Amino acid sequence: KAGGVIAPDLLDWYDRHARRLPWRSPPGTPPPDPYRVWLSEIMLQQTTVAAAAPYFARFTARWPTVADLAATEDAELMAAWAGLGYYARARNLLACARAVMADHGGVFPATEQGLRALPGIGPYTAAAIAAIAFGQAATVVDGNVERVIARLFALDRPIAQAKPEIRDHAARLTPAVRPGDYAQAMMDLGATICTPRNPACAICPVRRACAAAATGDPARYPVRAAK
Ligand code: ADE
Repeated sequence: KAGGVIAPDLLDWYDRHARRLPWRSPPGTPPPDPYRVWLSEIMLQQTTVAAAAPYFARFTARWPTVADLAATEDAELMAAWAGLGYYARARNLLACARAVMADHGGVFPATEQGLRALPGIGPYTAAAIAAIAFGQAATVVDGNVERVIARLFALDRPIAQAKPEIRDHAARLTPAVRPGDYAQAMMDLGATICTPRNPACAICPVRRACAAAATGDPARYPVRAAK
């Protein structure tokens, strides 16, 4: 029963072990607003959680809403971004905030399609915002989720060759209830238990559904490309 139904066990684990991160609202409480979800997801694209957290706190103190951010001078934004790297992200951040103001009346679109039309928002970020801020059952797939799925199903091909299959599995596992908590639970599982090396299967909430754990050598998955 690789995969199986994992959402109930995963959500139960998330209720007890969710990382308390500044862009999250606690499990079971109303979701954070889309501006905060969007800002955090852009920051987290090439930056660790630990590095992004103080920037997120400074940005939301200085610019509490998308309207505040859209109205700022480019130079102030770029200075505040210094240290996060990948400055195209900062330029897109401003372009996106201004597009939300100019084209959407200051309200983030509530669909993946609408979100993806905005500067700097790709498939991953659109799905994350749709799930976390809008409670939609969007399929959120990042590198951590790919690894978790490759293990749940003991995929015998490297991730790079199994992307469509991974997406299909991910879509089927995504629940209609609490999709935002589910998405962030998958991220936390990948970051804290289903780690690249030495996964902590003994304390994994979905171990019973995991084909890689059943093989006794879970770290063999995801399998690496043959050289
Ligand atoms: N990485 C990307 N998005 C994240 C989130 N919402 N929580 C934790 N880690 C993340």
